Amino acid sequence: MKELYCVIGNPIAHSLSPVMHTALLEQNQLNASYVPFLIEKQDFKIAIEGMKALGISGFNVTSPFKEDILPFLDALDPEAKACGAVNTVVATNGRWTGYNTDGVGYLQGLESIRKITETDQILILGAGGASKAIFHALMHHTNAKVTVANRTLKKAVKMVAGTAHKALSLAEAESQLADFTIVIQTTSSGLTKENAALPIRLHDVTAGTIISDIIYNPAETPFLKEAKARGAITQNGLPMFINQAAIAFELWTGIKADRALMRNIVLKQIGGK
Ligand code: ATR
Repeated sequence: MKELYCVIGNPIAHSLSPVMHTALLEQNQLNASYVPFLIEKQDFKIAIEGMKALGISGFNVTSPFKEDILPFLDALDPEAKACGAVNTVVATNGRWTGYNTDGVGYLQGLESIRKITETDQILILGAGGASKAIFHALMHHTNAKVTVANRTLKKAVKMVAGTAHKALSLAEAESQLADFTIVIQTTSSGLTKENAALPIRLHDVTAGTIISDIIYNPAETPFLKEAKARGAITQNGLPMFINQAAIAFELWTGIKADRALMRNIVLKQIGGK
């Protein structure tokens, strides 16, 4: 019987997950489809129960439902548990397990530049959902020392509580910038005209520092442009986006996802090279 995968969210029309996953399913000649479903907040429970009754094989969860899905799951992987958020669900004989592939997806991209070691001092700017996923992946899978800096300091403090990692204000992070080997920009500042300022100034960045931004469209945010001009090694959010989807596909099918194919498809959709 044909299998069904989907992504649920609101909004969902601009999601690139359907094109990426459809290409992977076709490439591997799997008898399955992947479709987007727009769900209204008030219909969430009935929609999820419907998906369960129909025997969906797996699905992605995007904003604003990454936390709402938790009560419907039978099990959680350690990453999702630590984040309190799920972006991928795997159904096995009707049993649903939640995963969060954002953090490990990010880490796979970062480690395509170089291996992260215990000598790395990593600064994460922002303390929202994406930051949390990246923080937990770094904590679980590397020996690096991590500092989380946020505009609202108490959110960063809460995130690192009970760990050996540190929290700072954005002003403190800015003045200590030279101490970090890797900087990860996860805030929404600099994204729109209304929110145009960079989260921190980059005067003290040293050449050779890895500076990444989780945004992939535009391919070069003002933050990355400034970092590059100061001699940093830069990476945008495209590897994270591709890898989080690739890991989801691998969890569902057990087949290695062709990341080059996924990348080409996304670049074609967003008009990049
Ligand atoms: P996501 O799930 O994508 O990580 P989010 O949970 O809405 O998004 O988090 C947005 C992050 O961007 C937060 O860390 C937010 O800081 P606050 O916790 O202080 O709100 C940060 N952010 C948004 N606008 C910002 C700005 N102008 N300057 C600095 N940080 C900003």
